[in-house]
Amino acid sequence: MTDGFSAAFVDGSHIFHNVFVDLFFLWEVVRPGGLVILDDYQWPSVATAVRYFEINTGWQPEQSTERPAYGPTDCRILGSSDPTKLRELQAVLARRGTLTAGSAPLAARREQLVRVAPNAGSGTVIAGRTWVTGAFGYTGRFITRRLLDAGHEVRTLTGHPSRPDPFDGKVDVVRYAFDDPPAMVASLQGAEVLYNTYWVRFPRRGTSFDQAVANTGALIRAAEVAGVRRVAHISITNPSKDSPLAYFRGKARAEEVVVGSALSHAIVRPTVLFGGGDVLINNIAWLARRLPFFAVAGTGEHRVRPVCVDDVARLAVDAGCSEEDLVIDAVGPEVFTFEELVRVVAMAVGRRVHILHVPPGLLVGLAKGLGLMVRDVMLTSDELRGLMAGLVATEGPRPGRPS
Ligand SMILES: NC(=O)c1ccc[n+]([C@@H]2O[C@H](COP(=O)([O-])OP(=O)(O)OC[C@H]3O[C@@H](n4cnc5c(N)ncnc54)[C@H](OP(=O)(O)O)[C@@H]3O)[C@@H](O)[C@H]2O)c1
Repeated sequence: MTDGFSAAFVDGSHIFHNVFVDLFFLWEVVRPGGLVILDDYQWPSVATAVRYFEINTGWQPEQSTERPAYGPTDCRILGSSDPTKLRELQAVLARRGTLTAGSAPLAARREQLVRVAPNAGSGTVIAGRTWVTGAFGYTGRFITRRLLDAGHEVRTLTGHPSRPDPFDGKVDVVRYAFDDPPAMVASLQGAEVLYNTYWVRFPRRGTSFDQAVANTGALIRAAEVAGVRRVAHISITNPSKDSPLAYFRGKARAEEVVVGSALSHAIVRPTVLFGGGDVLINNIAWLARRLPFFAVAGTGEHRVRPVCVDDVARLAVDAGCSEEDLVIDAVGPEVFTFEELVRVVAMAVGRRVHILHVPPGLLVGLAKGLGLMVRDVMLTSDELRGLMAGLVATEGPRPGRPS
């Protein structure tokens, strides 16, 4: 093509790097003086990609009541099959004098149209500036990896700013300041989406579940003041304010804080996580490698539906970038009884274990003893009760997958 195109209409993917690639090729093919019209400019991912081209290629924003238009160069039309959008595009182009109103409808000119931006990818929308609580923690690390890979700026709020950084300095690190609201607001300023993984697995070093709820409140209030648009909050399956388990009660109250806030929100409720440095599956594997027997509580028939931590990260990133308020369970494809899970993990590490059925109280005692030996908390009594009550298995389909 020697002359290039005089206009392009992009109604494509909302994934930042896809938008970026679309724009890169449009920059090549649209002639100076032409138009590039972008659908869904309100998505931060689209706006961020466009900002790059404004700064680095000199594209100028055009004012339009219908939709924002950007003016590089020459064109043909890059089309859409949506008649409303075609009419809007026609109106914009007519006002620009590029296309005479009443001339052949765009749909009739399809043979001239080139679709530069097919809807590639999963339709994920990703904000440009995303702050993550606990980006160096377990779930936070996977969320952050996905955000960085998509080209986004990430800051983390953490209690351990000097922890080894797996992202080679690409993440800005700020310490939590739950008891200093102005500092918390300052640290949240600039974020479009906040991914919140903050929680405590069990009360420790002065942080009770009540305190964790209060800290969540301080975080969310600061996010409101800082002008954060949306929060993607990691919760757990089956939180309930009436739960006999403090963990699940606390998670329900934390959700209430998020839902009651002025922020648009996505709540992602994972079951028990696996992948990389998870607690439960790693502990089962560790024990299966070392011991010829494995103690399970009661009948071992309680159900678990583990979910891969990177799947949760994908769901969280997608949910964080959507617009609607939503609550989704993040569950894996398979449901096991706990005993089946132990056998599967043991098999995976090349071991056969004899299962011993023991009373729950004895199991918690055994886990405590082992924990003291290995200087870790292997299993809390709330975790065991949650497992035995089937709280980390839900019946629903996997989000984003066929049921
Ligand atoms: N792990 C699972 O199997 C699982 C299952 C279902 C739901 N979840 C939920 O997923 C979210 C992330 O869990 P995760 O396992 O990935 O957690 P994590 O990495 O251990 O911690 C996430 C965040 O909480 C902070 N945190 C943890 N313990 C703390 C303590 N005692 N005092 C102060 N801050 C503390 C961490 O602070 P630092 O940045 O300072 O480390 C980090 O910011 C949580 O909301 C959890 O309830 C986890």
